[in-house]
Amino acid sequence: MKAVILISGNGSNLQSIIDNADRIDLQISCVISNNKNAFGIERAKSSKIKTFTIEPELFNSKMAFDEELIHIIDQHDIDLIILAGYMRILTPIFVSHYFGKILNIHPSLLPKFPGLNTHQKAIDASEKTHGVSVHFVTKELDCGPIISQESVSVENSDTAETLSDKVLKIEHVIYPKVIHWYTQGRLTLIDNLTATLDGKVI
Ligand code: GAR
Repeated sequence: MKAVILISGNGSNLQSIIDNADRIDLQISCVISNNKNAFGIERAKSSKIKTFTIEPELFNSKMAFDEELIHIIDQHDIDLIILAGYMRILTPIFVSHYFGKILNIHPSLLPKFPGLNTHQKAIDASEKTHGVSVHFVTKELDCGPIISQESVSVENSDTAETLSDKVLKIEHVIYPKVIHWYTQGRLTLIDNLTATLDGKVI
């Protein structure tokens, strides 16, 4: 299957997907960033993957930005859109256009801690476990049906940085696994609320 990967920053998840692409039957058609300084762009270029940067400042609305995003993506005949540290909220138009084809990875055990600064929020809430969720994207931020989650323990000595490192390690394993389910045709979003794996509700 062909995918486009959207990023905003370091791109360590992008790197893990690139490293696993053959094994998980994924062809990465291009990588798109909303941040021209994203290190992930360099990672993609090093692997000879086509890249695009769309600078938000050049658009006068979120919708105009997403229309440009759609325009680029639709030139690539893709099956899947992978959000890998993409830190922009997608407009409803974008989500409807690719409904059931957008995956996101989020660094918390959703529905706990949607949004930003999830590791600090977990520490502040004295959580004993924290983790990562992969979900289908629907119009509500970080609320689409959860496909898979993995947890890590939170130690008293953990800081937001150490927790982020622990969670990233498991992100790099769980995301290729879920993407593989998708490329094998095992994963479906059947309505706004329900994800299925092998025909069974997750
Ligand atoms: C990852 O922890 C990812 O889960 C998170 O951003 C980080 C990106 O790291 N995504 C979100 O917070 C989306 N709401 P990376 O650029 O090294 O892959």
